[in-house]
Amino acid sequence: MIRYSFILLSLILSAFIGSTQTLQKNLALIPIPVECKMASGNFTISNATQIFISNPIFEKEIVYFQNYLKSNYQISPLWVKKAPIKNSSYIEVRFGVFKDTIEGQYRLNINSNKIIIEASEASGVFYALQSLIQLLPVNGKVSLAVPCLAIEDFPRYKWRGMHLDCSRHFFSTAFVKKYIEMMASYKMNVFHWHLTDDQGWRIEIKHYPMLTEVGAWRKGSMVGPYADQKFDSIPYGGFYTQEEIKDIVEYASMLHVTIVPEIEMPGHALAALAAYPEFSCSGNPCEVGMKWGVETNVFCPAEHTFTFLDDVLSEVASLFPGKYIHIGGDEVLKDEWEKSPFCQQIMQNNGFKNYNELQSFFIKRIEYIVRIKGKSIIGWDEILDGGLAPNAAVMSWRGIEGGIAAAKQNHDVVMTPGAFCYFDHYQADPKTEPLAIGGFTTLEKVYSYEPTPDSLSVEEAKHIMGAQGNVWTEYMYNSDQVEYMAMPRMAALAEIVWVPKEKKNYQNFYQRLSLHRKLLDRKGIKYAKSAFGK
Ligand code: ACM
Repeated sequence: MIRYSFILLSLILSAFIGSTQTLQKNLALIPIPVECKMASGNFTISNATQIFISNPIFEKEIVYFQNYLKSNYQISPLWVKKAPIKNSSYIEVRFGVFKDTIEGQYRLNINSNKIIIEASEASGVFYALQSLIQLLPVNGKVSLAVPCLAIEDFPRYKWRGMHLDCSRHFFSTAFVKKYIEMMASYKMNVFHWHLTDDQGWRIEIKHYPMLTEVGAWRKGSMVGPYADQKFDSIPYGGFYTQEEIKDIVEYASMLHVTIVPEIEMPGHALAALAAYPEFSCSGNPCEVGMKWGVETNVFCPAEHTFTFLDDVLSEVASLFPGKYIHIGGDEVLKDEWEKSPFCQQIMQNNGFKNYNELQSFFIKRIEYIVRIKGKSIIGWDEILDGGLAPNAAVMSWRGIEGGIAAAKQNHDVVMTPGAFCYFDHYQADPKTEPLAIGGFTTLEKVYSYEPTPDSLSVEEAKHIMGAQGNVWTEYMYNSDQVEYMAMPRMAALAEIVWVPKEKKNYQNFYQRLSLHRKLLDRKGIKYAKSAFGK
């Protein structure tokens, strides 16, 4: 009898779990919530719905939601300042209490006559509203039915990042905002803005106007595959003024996205040196790069260069309120340093045995400059070579080894290994895809990525802040192409950095994504249809 009851109980339970999974599969929620219990019935959002918040810290989020409903569905629920009128259907946002609150945590309860959102921080309310937005019928009008359910949700990692290279190709402020909005809709929260490189300096620096007057413009660009070495002679460029940057920073903050600006040094500095050649060791005049790849023109580790970079970083630090400034540090060719008597003197004075130690000397100096401004540096994993600067966080891109080494030295890490997180790679058969840099990183491969390496102890693993997708734009000539390369791989990465490891399930993700696609179509996002086999 006991055995029989057990079997019956298991059958009921598995039917329940089965139906929960089926229903979740039928909801276009990405990332999938940590817990989602379906109930029967719907709540209908219409002009008659009332919105009530019991805490003013959530007001901005409600303004965002109201604007979303108005611009996408022409629906304007009434925001009531006192408790909702009896017998009407309403959405209430409350301050919520959680055991061990995690930044971004929320509860979303949808009943047939009310929706209750609970969070202890504004970001939690924002994420609850993103889930609610994903539940709205894509083609609804006048009244929008959402299914009754109960969600408990919180992120796995605190760094859920996307990068965009605005140097190789320049993108409008409107597109940068669209990209940030796309990220935020998947609950991603760090935008790594690659603002300087050999082929263009894109941020206005008031102390050094030539950085943009000269450094933001190149005489032409490489066309076609790298191997062809062909160039056009069409002048190309652009930059963001400080006013535009402030506006984007404010916009991102409304979407709970922190911007990490990247100012490349000591390598990838050709555009800066075209403007101010005196900051290289040779001092030779040079031009903004037209060719993709890595250049030998690098900053010289001299006092006047550090003064220049200090001034630049002061302006950068005052524009971006986040903790981190990304200082690059990758792919530093040492040719000029090797030829420079000045560098040899520093090597000798400090007893350096190789040029990686000189690179480390450079980064340590910059780390100090940035720290004095109340910020921290993050750099590509080459900053480990020759010795890591104190307090530096590491972005592991050449694989996962840099991330492992940094975590073992008690430094914070963002994982972005090329094989999984470089969205400039091909995502389907190159013969059928637009020209890309190379590589092969399918949607499924992105989804298969596990950011915390097995080889770390529990304590070391705490240094893995999260993961990030990188969009290098050598072969992305316009914003449509960026959307094509970023989506839907961004959605796969967003799920990896949000959901608990044991909840990852590619088939289930793919089914949800196939439904979610309708929303992308509605928004006019030019995602890669090849990710869906067509
Ligand atoms: C990089 O891809 N050079 C960081």
